[in-house]
Amino acid sequence: MRFKKKDIDNLQSEGDLNISHRRKAWMKAHIDVETQRWLDLDARYFLHQSLSTPCLNVLSHCEGINLEDLQGRSFMDFHGNNVHQVGFTNRRVIDAVKNQMENLAFCTRRYTNIPAIRLAEKLAQLAPGDLNKVLFAPAGTAAVGMALKLARMATGRFKTISMWDSFHGASLDAISVGGEAIFRKDAGPLLPGTEHVPPPDCYRCLWGCEEGNCTLQCADYIEYVLGKEGDVAAVIAETVRSTSVIPPTGYWKKVRAACDKHGALLILDEIPHCLGRTGRMFTCQHFDVVPDMLIIGKGLGGGIFPLAALIAREALDIAPDRALGHYTHEKNPVACAAASATIECLEEENLLANAENIGNYAMSRLRDMMQHQKIIGAVRGLGLLMGIELVKDRQTKVPASEEAEQVMYGALSRGLNFKVTMGNIITLTPPLTIIEPEMDRALDILDKCIAEVEKQERND
Ligand SMILES: Cc1ncc(COP(=O)(O)O)c(C=O)c1O
Repeated sequence: MRFKKKDIDNLQSEGDLNISHRRKAWMKAHIDVETQRWLDLDARYFLHQSLSTPCLNVLSHCEGINLEDLQGRSFMDFHGNNVHQVGFTNRRVIDAVKNQMENLAFCTRRYTNIPAIRLAEKLAQLAPGDLNKVLFAPAGTAAVGMALKLARMATGRFKTISMWDSFHGASLDAISVGGEAIFRKDAGPLLPGTEHVPPPDCYRCLWGCEEGNCTLQCADYIEYVLGKEGDVAAVIAETVRSTSVIPPTGYWKKVRAACDKHGALLILDEIPHCLGRTGRMFTCQHFDVVPDMLIIGKGLGGGIFPLAALIAREALDIAPDRALGHYTHEKNPVACAAASATIECLEEENLLANAENIGNYAMSRLRDMMQHQKIIGAVRGLGLLMGIELVKDRQTKVPASEEAEQVMYGALSRGLNFKVTMGNIITLTPPLTIIEPEMDRALDILDKCIAEVEKQERND
């Protein structure tokens, strides 16, 4: 099947697409016969879908910040689907998982278990404010679904306000509040009452604010819609979008106040940044705001087990006679043991401080890079969540999507793996265990690849 450039541009959001000609060219240059045989079998037996099958390469090993492919090549993984906060094959997590598997590998319904209780208690202690009640699920998407149901039951309302370009998972309820064409296209009709508003994008502000001189009209607009609708159950959003949007100071406080005024709940989705990626355990702690529900996942399972959690305010414990989640792996003891070991690791190895320090160091290098690489329109970051926005021209800010893809494949050839968001934003999310020389090595590769693309542009 051939895809038109216009279609590809419209679909660029969550990650790089697997249908581009650059993908094909990279594979031709790097994939040997044996790997291709496995890739063909993969494509033969899995349903094809964007961002996934057909795949790029076959992995055989992962450890620390590195991936290794079948051909023995190593890649520093600055993507990791955001599950590898404590590094791949983290010893403490593996030992906890092994030990738990030997004792209680599953928890049949009607019973609970100590690893699940301990983890719920720990999360309630860590979470800000009165976010004290927990429900686990086997995926972030499922936790988002539980939050949407609880919001309906608690308020007696069904409408939501969420953001264009956001992602909350791939199920029908999650894509109804999500705002990405690649998930919504041809999937309708979606949930009713799901209003969308523009994200607080300081680089491309719809209200025309200058960067650093924000008037928070994006937050005022949410209050406006809340008032007009009058019966919105919840505002649901990613606290920080990976990494196209980091809201301006005061944004979440204003939205929080608007929710309170209009009787709507605030649900913050921190699934990819949990726990500690931004240098704080929870991202909302940067904005001094406490939501009514917080959703976490991904890294919670230590890069080994799928596990997500809904953490709700104590007062939202209102549905004892209804089922919010009822997932088979709701209190999986092995997943919970992995999560507790992950939190221990984050705390005892000071990984939050490391995320902040190495993140600050990387950001200062990226700002320097911006001085000599004209294609970089903006750099932004919070801890070890960093974005580099490539543009054709700093005045027009036209996204340099082709160039971003070129940089990505160039970096892959040199052993650095990362994701491209919205087509033109290089997104860097390494493990929080990373040390400065590793960050230097990655940024040197990036610098070289961007320089190559710039040089090519000048010569064209
Ligand atoms: C912000 C956000 N919400 C929800 C999800 C869905 O999580 P899962 O893939 O575990 O269902 C993701 C996954 O990428 C995410 O980034």
